[in-house]
Amino acid sequence: MRQYLILLLLFTLVQSAVTDSPRRPNSNPPKGFVTTKGSKFVLDGKPFYFVGTNSYWVPLLTTKEDVESTFKQMKNAGVKVLRTWGFNAINGSELAAARNSDLTYYQVWNSTEWVLNDGPQGLQRLDNVIAMAGKYNIKIILTFTNNWVGYGGSELYVNWIGGAGSTHDVFYTHPKIIASYQRYVKTIVNRYKTSPNIFAWELMNEARCLGDLPGGPSCIPGSGTLYHWYNQQANFVRSLDPYHLITTGGEGHFYWKKPVGFWYNGQFISDYNFNGQAGEDFDRDLTLENIDFGTYHIYPQYWYPQLDTPGSNFTLKAWGIDWIKLHAKAAKRVGKPVILEEFGVTGLENKTDIYPAWVDSALSTGHGIMPWQFGALGLTENGGNRVIKYADALINGASPNDGHAFYENQTTVWNVFTNAAKVQDAKSK
Ligand SMILES: *[C@@H]1O[C@H](CO)[C@@H](O)[C@H](O)[C@H]1NC(C)=O
Ligand SMILES: *[C@@H]1O[C@H](CO)[C@@H](O)[C@H](O)[C@H]1NC(C)=O
Ligand SMILES: *[C@@H]1O[C@H](CO)[C@@H](O)[C@H](O)[C@H]1NC(C)=O
Ligand SMILES: *[C@@H]1O[C@H](CO)[C@@H](O)[C@H](O)[C@H]1NC(C)=O
Ligand SMILES: *[C@@H]1O[C@H](CO)[C@@H](O)[C@H](O)[C@H]1NC(C)=O
Repeated sequence: MRQYLILLLLFTLVQSAVTDSPRRPNSNPPKGFVTTKGSKFVLDGKPFYFVGTNSYWVPLLTTKEDVESTFKQMKNAGVKVLRTWGFNAINGSELAAARNSDLTYYQVWNSTEWVLNDGPQGLQRLDNVIAMAGKYNIKIILTFTNNWVGYGGSELYVNWIGGAGSTHDVFYTHPKIIASYQRYVKTIVNRYKTSPNIFAWELMNEARCLGDLPGGPSCIPGSGTLYHWYNQQANFVRSLDPYHLITTGGEGHFYWKKPVGFWYNGQFISDYNFNGQAGEDFDRDLTLENIDFGTYHIYPQYWYPQLDTPGSNFTLKAWGIDWIKLHAKAAKRVGKPVILEEFGVTGLENKTDIYPAWVDSALSTGHGIMPWQFGALGLTENGGNRVIKYADALINGASPNDGHAFYENQTTVWNVFTNAAKVQDAKSK
């Protein structure tokens, strides 16, 4: 009986080594690389609990001084992980203006293939960000593309390769789009794969079946479109880089068989966050071999406009706490770490009221906590004033504010995060 079991075990090991390759050599990463052990992150043999933050605009800064000042401010706030965009793409028609305004860009699209800019207004700016992160002991989550049009995401691939009339979801299935995306991923991964300053690679910001373009009929609940794409891309990244962690960058949408919804105007509204329509299946996606940890976001102000009205019994605070608990449970079932990767509410009063409760709840889960988004003060380029792109601007030395930025002069909110960082630090021993 025993021998039989051992044989069976050996057979299973051999078989899984064959069928599941490439598999991460989890046990022994180079010094300074973050890895995972069960549901924890580990850094150089110690558990790694952290408060991090988001700021996509750091690589858009034009001077090394401002980049350094931003990292210094983050370090002083106790930030250990920064998530930023590893993409900045433009159309050829925007090139002249981009050069004039000193806009950072890495890819230029003017045909069915993009052209790389690895010059001083291109990837050299990202090089500087990654290097500066190391100097301030902050690790970077680098995202390869965007679900949304901002800074040239997946929809440039769809526009240029898929052609007019393509739906958003062809991004996940069109072989030429996948090849083009992978060509970019390979460029970025190969550039930084030996760097301990990278915390993780992220496949896409907020992948959904629809984007700013509508979704098509094949990306529907149960189709597993995103699951298969995540699997294919995570395996691809793993084949390039055996050590760095890989994650989805998703919002944490569930695909539950049990219907979840609410009554509105006498109608039952099926809840987009739970019914799989967004494209993700948080529980299943997290089981993928090369998805090393999960991510989720919290934006109830935008997700529940029908319920979030004065006098209703819906509260942003309660909804967020519930969403945190659901992801903690899901993470526990799979036994991998999860991070609260983005969250935000508009208005200083709302932030002051809500963030302490959300952060407390997240601290009790042990997850990494990454508010959207960090605010830096005292930036000096162009005298502290510069329009970057869209509504993004530096104003009197303050970094861009999309309504969610919080700055050091907003002491109560600031201290919620600096105090949480101390709690996480104390547990990282
Ligand atoms: C880029 O060009 C495509 C057309 O090829 C257009 O649909 C899209 O809006 C343009 N994007 C930007 C950011 O200008
Ligand atoms: C983009 O392509 C058009 C048409 O081929 C061409 O006229 C234009 O000069 C190109 N722009 C850039 C920046 O390459
Ligand atoms: C809020 O009110 C609605 C009816 O308007 C009810 O169906 C729902 O259960 C209430 N939710 C809570 C959390 O009390
Ligand atoms: C605070 O939150 C409420 C509820 O979402 C919203 O109606 C209000 O506009 C927010 N305040 C600000 C200043 O954004
Ligand atoms: C803090 O700095 C920001 C950015 O400059 C500014 O908008 C805000 O008025 C300042 N003060 C407070 C209390 O928020």
